[in-house]
Amino acid sequence: MEDAINHNNPMENIDDWEDNLKERYPDPETPAKEKEEFRNYVDSKRVETVKEFYRINHMNQTYDFVCKKEDEFLRFDKKEMSLWEAVDFLNTLVDDSDPDIDLDQLQHLLQTSEAIRADGHPDWFILTGFLHDIGKVLCLFDEPQWAVVGDTFPVGCKFSDTIVYPDFFKENPDYSNPKYNTKYGVYTPNCGLDNVKMSWGHDEYLYQIVKDYLPEPALYIIRYHSFYSQHREEAYTHLMNDKDIEMFEWVKKFNPYDLYTKAPVKPDAKALKPYYEALVKKYLPDVLKF
Ligand SMILES: [Fe+2]
Ligand SMILES: [Fe+2]
Repeated sequence: MEDAINHNNPMENIDDWEDNLKERYPDPETPAKEKEEFRNYVDSKRVETVKEFYRINHMNQTYDFVCKKEDEFLRFDKKEMSLWEAVDFLNTLVDDSDPDIDLDQLQHLLQTSEAIRADGHPDWFILTGFLHDIGKVLCLFDEPQWAVVGDTFPVGCKFSDTIVYPDFFKENPDYSNPKYNTKYGVYTPNCGLDNVKMSWGHDEYLYQIVKDYLPEPALYIIRYHSFYSQHREEAYTHLMNDKDIEMFEWVKKFNPYDLYTKAPVKPDAKALKPYYEALVKKYLPDVLKF
């Protein structure tokens, strides 16, 4: 008998979405043979569950849904944690039912930040790599996968055809609402992304938690790192202002570190901890409100 699909959490692991991204946007530097191996690894069951994940995501991410989630989570009354406690908390997300995935969340963060560090980038950029996915703690507050990960996109205006599986938006009530289904919807030309509501997920959530502490490019990276229809397809430039265009250069610079970094030797979390502790202390308060 087929396993029943859990429609709130269709993927076995939230990292299945990131694997799907790598398939959609393969690393230009990866040899063809490895790309082929990766495609084999992404078996058909995984493709189906990721597709189901997008169906539910596209159906439910409405303008009203985002307002509701902002209301619920931007009170920051769920938990107080240091960044380290948040990392430990996030690490409980590891799914050991999948033998192919031995990368825990901390490893993904360290691999991203260590690759940024190896390229000689400024310390705030390294820190951004280290914390960019901490917003996934939303999963541990029992939020469904489709409201934590996935490509993000503006709500309140027409959904771009360049977003993955665009046909699924037909099931979203905003798709047929004249208030929200025109090119600009509730927005004005080049109003700036700060005035645009994005679909709800780990990106916006973490941005709101750290927005008073990090330099502007870091905040752009955190807030828009899953906005693929813009940083890969440039589908929403008509909503962006000059500042957004300038800052997106950083988002684009960050993206390959997030997607393609896979160190041959796993970073040694214990040995690296003092370095990251100092970095966290330099920019963030001892306790963050979630
Ligand atoms: Fe992410
Ligand atoms: Fe990531």
